[in-house]
Amino acid sequence: MNVSEAIQNRWSVRAYKDAPVAEKDLLLLLEAARLSPSARNRQHRKYVVTHPGPALVEACNGQSWIGTAPIAIVGIVDPSVASPWDVADLSIAFDHMVLQATELGLGTCWIGAFDESKVKDLFAIPEDKKVVAILTVGYPDTTGSHKKKDPLDAIWTWDTYAW
Ligand SMILES: Cc1cc2nc3c(=O)[nH]c(=O)nc-3n(C[C@H](O)[C@H](O)[C@H](O)COP(=O)(O)O)c2cc1C
Repeated sequence: MNVSEAIQNRWSVRAYKDAPVAEKDLLLLLEAARLSPSARNRQHRKYVVTHPGPALVEACNGQSWIGTAPIAIVGIVDPSVASPWDVADLSIAFDHMVLQATELGLGTCWIGAFDESKVKDLFAIPEDKKVVAILTVGYPDTTGSHKKKDPLDAIWTWDTYAW
């Protein structure tokens, strides 16, 4: 699968098979994150990998489907160093992982709805760090495709802004 195909085939997967993600595949995802760009190449990003359990579901506002994922990756930045680009830096890394996962036949879903203080408590993340997003990873237990997107000619113009 090439990059274009990965972009086309990616969708947010919210039901996962009870099958583990091989460590070599997990490491490929983290390698994709490692190689992604960051402002001034600061690379102030860390990842905590976990097997989601009830405590993480609760910290993610009760999104029960998260408990079906074999793996979740918590993305953390150091805002004291990377701000104001910290969220951009982490998001680029996550999207690299998402596309790498798609190539491997793995499904993913971004999670932005969570209680940051609960997530910090769960994974011993220091108060001065920022949890930007969480990514579930696993083999999809359903078929699907990405949601309907705006048409190409509605999203861009040459030279002059238009809404
Ligand atoms: C920053 C961000 C936060 C998101 N947070 C959640 C979330 O907490 N729970 C969830 O089920 N999906 C979440 N999503 C997934 C979106 O709902 C999904 O990308 C969108 O509906 C489009 O669907 P698609 O990814 O299949 O094209 C999030 C996506 C992004 C980019």
